[in-house]
Amino acid sequence: MQTEIVIGAIQTQAAQAVVVNLFEGVTVPGGATGAVDSALGGQIQALIAGGDFRGKLNEVAVLYPHGAIPARRVILVGLGKREKFTPDVIRQAAASAAKKARDLGVTQLHTIVHGAGVGKMPPEQAAAAVVEGTVLGLYRFHELKTHLDEARPDLTTLTLVEWDATRQRALEAGARQGQIVAESTLLTRDLVNRPANIATPTAIAEVAQHIAAEAGLRCQVLDKETLTALGMHALLSVNRGGDEPARMVILEHNAGRADLPALVLVGKGITFDTGGISLKPSENMHRMKGDMGGAAAVLGALRAAALLDLPLHVVGLMPLTENMPDAHATKPGDVVHSLKGLTIEILSTDAEGRLILADALTYAQTFAPQAIFDIATLTGGRVVALGDHAAAVMGDEALIARLHTAGEATFERVWPLPLFEEYGEQLKSTVADVANVGGRAASSIIGGYFLSKFVPDGVPWVHIDIAGLDLSEKDLPYTPKGATGFGVRLLVEMLRRW
Ligand code: BES
Ligand code: ZN
Ligand code: ZN
Repeated sequence: MQTEIVIGAIQTQAAQAVVVNLFEGVTVPGGATGAVDSALGGQIQALIAGGDFRGKLNEVAVLYPHGAIPARRVILVGLGKREKFTPDVIRQAAASAAKKARDLGVTQLHTIVHGAGVGKMPPEQAAAAVVEGTVLGLYRFHELKTHLDEARPDLTTLTLVEWDATRQRALEAGARQGQIVAESTLLTRDLVNRPANIATPTAIAEVAQHIAAEAGLRCQVLDKETLTALGMHALLSVNRGGDEPARMVILEHNAGRADLPALVLVGKGITFDTGGISLKPSENMHRMKGDMGGAAAVLGALRAAALLDLPLHVVGLMPLTENMPDAHATKPGDVVHSLKGLTIEILSTDAEGRLILADALTYAQTFAPQAIFDIATLTGGRVVALGDHAAAVMGDEALIARLHTAGEATFERVWPLPLFEEYGEQLKSTVADVANVGGRAASSIIGGYFLSKFVPDGVPWVHIDIAGLDLSEKDLPYTPKGATGFGVRLLVEMLRRW
C-alpha cells in the first residue's frame, strides 16, 4: 500500500471513498466532517438526530452522496468520547474505516487525519497513527490458502487529505514512520503465523538475511558447529531432541559506529515448544508455533530501526531452535555447561526458553552493551498474572520506566514484577550451580531471576515476558485474530525516544 498526502478539502476529492469522523455526543459536527455534512445537506446531522449514529469508538456508517460531492462514498467512523481520545483511538478508528472500505471493494481510500484537527494532536503523531492503524488493521495471512472465496483486493493507496499546507512536512514524516513501524510489525506477524514445519530455524535465519540485505543491516548467522565451538551448551541442550539444526542470528544497525555504545535486543526463538521430555498436554499445543515471537519481534524492531535510520547502535540476537522429545533429547535432571560457565540442572525441559536466552545474554557481552533487553514468550504465569493487557517486565528500573512510557504510547503496555534476591532460593540445585525451574510459586519471576544470573556484570538489563501475547484469540480493530506482532512497536518506540 502506498501512502500520499494531498493538500485540499476532503469534500472536493474525487475518491472511491472519503473517511470522516465523529466524537460521541456531538450533534453538529465541525471541521472536515462538518464541511462534508453541509455539502450533503445535513445527512450526517440527520443520522445523529435519528439515533442511527452515536459516534461510539469503531462505529461505522456509509453514506452515498449521489453527486453532492465528487466522492462515491462517505465512510463515517466514531472516535468515542473526546476525553478518552488518544493515539490508540486513532489507530483503531483508522483500522475500522479501512476494513469497511475494503469490504466495499475500495482500493484507493482518502481520509482526513483523525486527531490533527478537532482532536488537537500533533500532526506528525496523528498521521503516524492513521497509517499504522490502517496497515495493521488490514493485515491478513493468506500465504497458505489456495482458495480465497470472498477475499476483497488490498488497498493500493491511502491518501491523507489535509487543508492546512503548513502541515505537509509533518504529515509526510509521520506517515512514513507509521508505515515503517507497521510493516515491520507485519513481518513479525507473518513469522509467528507461519507454522513450525515451514518457519524452521534455518528458514527464519534466511528471512533475517533477506530483510537485513533490504534494510541495510549487518547480519551474521551462526550455525550449529559454531555454536558448539563457542560452548553454547544451554542453547544446544534444547536442540538435541529435534532434527532441525539450531541457529543464532546476529543483526546489527550502525554496526560500524564504534562511537555509539550498543543496545542489545535478545529474542526467544523457539520455533516450536513441545515441552521436550517434560511434554506439554496436547490441547492448544499448536499455539507453541508462536514461541519464537520474541525473536520475530527483535527482527521486526531491527528492520524498523534501520529504515528509520535511528542514530543508535542496535544489535539483535535471535537464538533459534525447536524443543522436541526424542532419543537424543535432554532429560529432566541432566546438567549442562552454559556459555557463561555456570552449570544448569535442567529439572524441566519445558523451561527451555531461559536456557537459550542464558547463552544469548552471555554472548551479548561481545558488543560491550550499554543496556540489554530480552523479549520472550517465557511463562504461562505471565498469562495468569496479567491476561491480555500487559507484558511483564523485570530488571533495571530506569529501563522499565523507558518501556513503560513506550508502552503507553503504543498501547503495548508493560507492568513490573520484582526480582527480590530471596526468590533465588527457589533456584538452588543440589548438583549444579543453578536449577532451571523453582516450583509453582511466582513462575514468571523465577524465569526472570534465572535470566538475571546470565546477564553480563554491571550491564543494565530488562526482561519482557510476552507469553500468550504473541497470538490473539480475539479479532481486535487493528489486531486480527492470530499473530499480533507484539513487541515491535514497543521496542521501536523505546528506541526512538532513547
Ligand atoms: N513457551 C512456554 C510459555 C508459554 C505459555 C508461552 C503459554 C505462551 C503461552 C514456556 O517455554 C514454558 O513452557 N514455560 C513453563 C515454565 C515452567 C516449566 C517453569 C510454564 O510457564 O509453564
Ligand atoms: Zn516450554
Ligand atoms: Zn517455550
